[in-house]
Amino acid sequence: MVKRVYLIGFMGSGKSTMGRWLSDEMGWTFVDMDHFIENKYHKTITQIFEEKGEDGFREMEARCLREIGDFEKVIVGAGGGTPCYFDNMDVMNATGVTIYIKLTPEVLNDRLKGAKAQRPLVANKSKEELLAFISEKLKEREPFYSKAQVIADGSTWEVTDFVKAIQD
Ligand code: S3P
Repeated sequence: MVKRVYLIGFMGSGKSTMGRWLSDEMGWTFVDMDHFIENKYHKTITQIFEEKGEDGFREMEARCLREIGDFEKVIVGAGGGTPCYFDNMDVMNATGVTIYIKLTPEVLNDRLKGAKAQRPLVANKSKEELLAFISEKLKEREPFYSKAQVIADGSTWEVTDFVKAIQD
């Protein structure tokens, strides 16, 4: 019996939007990892990056992921970097169904353009820098994302495709 679904993928891939739709469809709870971290530590992601650096953030993120791994009937929207640190990807694969929402750097660039402010890794990037950053980071992260049990085409998959993949 599946108890958890983890949506993974780059920033801007639609993990939160799809996660909310999917949780409505399945009657499960949506847990956005960034919000979970912010609520637990009473700080924004930006403040955590400023105060503890990215390494400090990754440790907090890994700790939260293990806490969430005990929840039942949850759709988890992982952070874009979550699968790429410690053995987080193995933890997710062992405790639920993992779905990688895959998109090209060009589409991610379009979607991220207006949504950079709360994301410290891209907040200060110019238009020109953003696409180069996404392309490079995605290449680095793809080996981790590819360990997902399901690969979803982010530009064509609808909520019913996700439900079917979870049930299969
Ligand atoms: C990050 C993605 C963010 C957030 C943090 C770092 C990343 O989450 O965890 O800013 O390393 O890609 P979203 O993918 O939900 O934006």
